[in-house]
Amino acid sequence: MKKSLILTGMMGVGKSTIGRLLAKRLKVRFIDVDKVIEKNQKKSIKKIFQDNGEKYFRKLEEKIALKIIKKRETVIALGGGAFINENIRKKVLKSCVSVWLKVNLDKLIKRYRTNNRRPLLNKTKLDADVRKIYQLRKKIYSLANFKISCDNMSKTQIVERILVLYEN
Ligand code: S3P
Repeated sequence: MKKSLILTGMMGVGKSTIGRLLAKRLKVRFIDVDKVIEKNQKKSIKKIFQDNGEKYFRKLEEKIALKIIKKRETVIALGGGAFINENIRKKVLKSCVSVWLKVNLDKLIKRYRTNNRRPLLNKTKLDADVRKIYQLRKKIYSLANFKISCDNMSKTQIVERILVLYEN
């Protein structure tokens, strides 16, 4: 049976949208780890951060992601911080095919300004925050099996590119 396909990368790069399209094309299941966490806690990620804090969220994220990663032949979108967790990353690198979706930072920051769903981002210093998070993470994202620079690519083109990588 084929390995699962994991999408990683910063918040808002389109992991869930691309993941859903990929799963459709591959005729396999799609699982969004953040959605499973929200269902498990019966509240939004934002509310989990507010009520219980980031540490609590990260613990839960590890537990739930590790369980989901065990599945085969599934397209899985990780939350932007999940691949930074060593336990999650090790398992992903060992048993899945991983793709880092990369988008230009200025473009991402524009997306964040119109969407207040993401608890890690404080709007007043959005620019600095995003750059800081990205600086810390990019080396780790680059450990994924493949990298796709999504700028100037349509969703369909991104999906096609990933399909070629995954199927070879
Ligand atoms: C996070 C990304 C979010 C969510 C949480 C933390 C991060 O997921 O898991 O807000 O640390 O980058 P998305 O990447 O799906 O927005």
